[in-house]
Amino acid sequence: MGRLIIVGGRVIDPSQQVDRVTNLLIEDGKIVGLDAVPRGDEETINATGKIVCPGLIDMHVHLREPGGEEDETIATGTLAALSGGFTTVACCPNTDPPIDTQAAVHFVFERAARADHCHVAVIACVSKNREGKELAEIGQLVEAGAVAFSDDGSPIANADLMRRAFQYCLMFDKPILSHAEIPELTAGGVMHEGLVSLILGLQGMPAAAEDAMVARDIALAESTGGRLHVMHVSTMGSVQAIRRAKARGVRVTAEVTPHHFTLTDEALRSFDSNFKVNPPLRSREHVDALIEGLVDGTIDVIASDHAPHAKEKKLQELDRAPFGVVGLETTLSLVIMRLIEPGHLTWSQAIEKMTVNPARILGLNKGTLAPGADADVTIIDPELRWQVEPEELLSKSKNTAFAGWHMKGRAVTVIVGGRVKFRR
Ligand code: DOR
Repeated sequence: MGRLIIVGGRVIDPSQQVDRVTNLLIEDGKIVGLDAVPRGDEETINATGKIVCPGLIDMHVHLREPGGEEDETIATGTLAALSGGFTTVACCPNTDPPIDTQAAVHFVFERAARADHCHVAVIACVSKNREGKELAEIGQLVEAGAVAFSDDGSPIANADLMRRAFQYCLMFDKPILSHAEIPELTAGGVMHEGLVSLILGLQGMPAAAEDAMVARDIALAESTGGRLHVMHVSTMGSVQAIRRAKARGVRVTAEVTPHHFTLTDEALRSFDSNFKVNPPLRSREHVDALIEGLVDGTIDVIASDHAPHAKEKKLQELDRAPFGVVGLETTLSLVIMRLIEPGHLTWSQAIEKMTVNPARILGLNKGTLAPGADADVTIIDPELRWQVEPEELLSKSKNTAFAGWHMKGRAVTVIVGGRVKFRR
């Protein structure tokens, strides 16, 4: 593979508290180190004016394969990930069949290896067939390589099952990634319950449906000593509960998506199903609370919840269209425009939530530019301006909530295991 040197970039590696202009040397797929002086015989990438950081990690992605190949495949999803600057994605198990067997985990690894784009970590089901009735074979799934457990897409309504899942996962030191929602409170809902849903006459999903489930999950994590990661946090109540739980030492972490920190329920006035997500886009006070949670560290991770759906599905009436938006290719720009540029997060804090923090939660030996680490590196042009043209997205599905948006900042070179996998 040889030597590759990235020269003159602003290297930001929160795992080593590094933020300075320097060179980064890679050899045979591994990081050699910073401050290297070119010898002259290495492949050189000039990163002047660019940001060089550990390869970004998206810990919440739906790759849809097997069973949903009309929406996305592992090959198209991982290519979209590269374009978004991600060198590792963790894929969710709400496929058909769900990822609840060793064979299913192996299938994902095999498809990802064949696509040969970015790394894929596998999140496996908590319950068999995602039915919320019987625990999946957690031990076997860990043996196959699953890094975390979730029934994402559906909440785990049965508290006894959730408690046993925490106890079981504790034996393997694996987190449970919770899609926190009380289903009885959200049934039939299409958007956040509030003034806008009232005006539009659309059935709402109350914030309390999330608040109550997050409180339950925290109580179960606290009593079992298990590890809870709250996915796509969307309410003020969740942020407050997670903040309090962290303060008393509960093993809880949390993530927020770009659509939840960028948009509000006002977007639904368009009746466009590309704003229909679960949990729903909330009102301003919730969005402000999410940003506060990002700022004070209550929220550890930014993840896309990339949820591709084919056009014909999203073109249905709002109450019939599926929940979800694609996000891999717009996440980084929204982090730059909505969190870094307004001064909510520094570059280092933002990159931390997209590298070392998700790596730590999933137990991945990644998210760092320390010597000896796998050479997964993302080079970002923070000034690059572009417009979101849905048809130009590399994801197989084009259901973005940001069609036509003028964006700033994008990944320009993505290196996976020392090899340049994507160049814009
Ligand atoms: O909006 C969403 N879409 N939320 C989820 O929890 C699941 C996801 C999907 O799989 O489409």
